Amino acid sequence: MEVIIAKDYETLSRQAATIIAAQIIGRPDSVLGLATGSTPVGTYKHLVALYREGIIDFSRVKTFNLDEYYGVAPDNPCSYRWFMEENLFKHINILPENTYIPNGLAQDTAAECREYEEKIHRAGGIDLQLLGIGGNGHIGFNEPSDNFQSATHLVDLDPQTIEANSRFFASPDQVPRQALSMGIKSIMAARRIILLANGKAKARAVYEMIRGPITPELPASVLQLHPQAAVIIDQEAAALL
Ligand code: F6R
Repeated sequence: MEVIIAKDYETLSRQAATIIAAQIIGRPDSVLGLATGSTPVGTYKHLVALYREGIIDFSRVKTFNLDEYYGVAPDNPCSYRWFMEENLFKHINILPENTYIPNGLAQDTAAECREYEEKIHRAGGIDLQLLGIGGNGHIGFNEPSDNFQSATHLVDLDPQTIEANSRFFASPDQVPRQALSMGIKSIMAARRIILLANGKAKARAVYEMIRGPITPELPASVLQLHPQAAVIIDQEAAALL
């Protein structure tokens, strides 16, 4: 696992955007795995700037997001579909039909998860997966558990995740209790992974991910086994290394 310590969040975001831009230039029909949350917002801003400068073209790019809240409609401002439209998609020339996010309103969640995996497979697999990390070490919404959940599945969110994500909702009881998330196997199948983390609230999880044992109790620790995983962190997130 390559570890890159960036001076600050701005530098981290620029470095991540540079890696993604290089991927797109090298392969214009790249398949990207994307994350939501606070961490990648700066990266998306830099990608939008690179697009506006004419340096990258998203017209042949496909994207698959890690997750979506269960029971939340795409036009709900708390949905991850909404987040992606606001922070990236509406600012670039990606084709709407090339942006995939699990359907939070699916009646048959098992079928939705199966089809999501099939879509990734039909697209040729994910070339570059962008990840954040939860304070409890989750990636996607793969929460600490006693096994590495494999494919896309319906998850019960951890109380710590509900609490952490309540900042995006009017109150903690409005945070959905479940989500559809790509699994550890789906994430590990990506040809290349970059995980971003900033701020001291992530320092413990970052330490455990890099230096701790590989265990489903700290889901991100599985990235130690990925041959092409890079972790880009700011100095606060690197504080315990
Ligand atoms: C988001 C996701 C989550 C977040 C993680 C960190 O799609 O899958 O794993 O990456 O919860 O969230 P932030 O960046 O808000 O600290």
